[in-house]
Amino acid sequence: MDQKKGQYKVASMKLADEGHKRIAWAESRMPVMMSLIEKYKKTKPLKGYRIAGCLHVTKETAVLVKALETAGAKVSWSGCNPLSTNDSVAAALADDGYSIFAWHGMNVKEFYWAIDRTIDFEPNLTLDDGADLIFTLHNKYRKLAENGVIGGTEETTTGVKRLRAMADAGELLYPVIAINDTPTKWDFDNVYGTGQSTLDGILRATSILFAGKNVVVAGYGHCGNGVANRAKGLGANTIVTEVQPTAALKATLDGHQVMSMKEAAKIGEVFITATGVNNILRKEHFEKMREGAIVCNTGHYDNEINLKDLKEITKSVRAIRHSNEEYTLKNGKKIYVLAQGRLVNLAAAEGHPSEVMDMSFANQFLAQIKLA
Ligand code: ADE
Repeated sequence: MDQKKGQYKVASMKLADEGHKRIAWAESRMPVMMSLIEKYKKTKPLKGYRIAGCLHVTKETAVLVKALETAGAKVSWSGCNPLSTNDSVAAALADDGYSIFAWHGMNVKEFYWAIDRTIDFEPNLTLDDGADLIFTLHNKYRKLAENGVIGGTEETTTGVKRLRAMADAGELLYPVIAINDTPTKWDFDNVYGTGQSTLDGILRATSILFAGKNVVVAGYGHCGNGVANRAKGLGANTIVTEVQPTAALKATLDGHQVMSMKEAAKIGEVFITATGVNNILRKEHFEKMREGAIVCNTGHYDNEINLKDLKEITKSVRAIRHSNEEYTLKNGKKIYVLAQGRLVNLAAAEGHPSEVMDMSFANQFLAQIKLA
């Protein structure tokens, strides 16, 4: 291998060739990003900026990383979820000389180790999905957050919520642009991206037939809406649980059955959490579920399915196929948990399709230029 300029820790450099081809495929589906690269490659508006990024390492993210460097920035990257890194893409980025610290299946300690490595590089801009990088900077590298970083961008609903709370408490040390609030992000990525990629993840982990299944979607925000409507399109009997009255009414008018989780737990065959709220599926629900029920989450954090509760009533667990664990309960019933309760669309599949990420990442890219 040639001498590379970037530092990296990835699963295996042997996967780089596969990663290069995946990235080329994403580029062929991301016309907005490709035109922005063309537009800014000569003027280099990010020259002199060091960007630390903490966002799922996918083929689409690779296009964003390349765009930022083509526009003049130096970039250092980590994944924002222990199970979402595509190892071939990480290897291809390392092979091309980018600084990247990410591999699929990292543990929590390694996850924060990787973020620390991107901060070693003393960024003056940050790019987050879930705000873990910003939080780490505020908690552990306060001087840099106060005096070094001039601004950041945040991709997702959960991250924006966390940061708004910090800003309201007067604790946010630098301005952050909420990418999620842009219509060309939330109206497409959250709805059609999450809708399709969540079902993609479930299908790759289970290969089930959706038609005729009772599919329970917890939450009818943009993501839950996307998931429920795609599942309905595949012929599922969709059931929505939602505490917010107008969202619940919307779900009813969109043709879904609406009920409490207490009721839905008894009839659901597939459960998908999309709320951003913790403890949605708990012991009282697992106890009522039908034999063979499948449970998964598509929210940012792995706190929506209470696996501790499930383990308490479980006799044994075995991996039955990729991203699919069979829990045999003490009463003999089997429940299947996908992707360890982490976001099923990125852990079991490849996340949102390139066409959708094209728009989301165009917002990220332009926001970084705006901050610079
Ligand atoms: N979030 C959801 N899907 C994604 C993807 N394909 N790449 C990066 N972040 C994502």
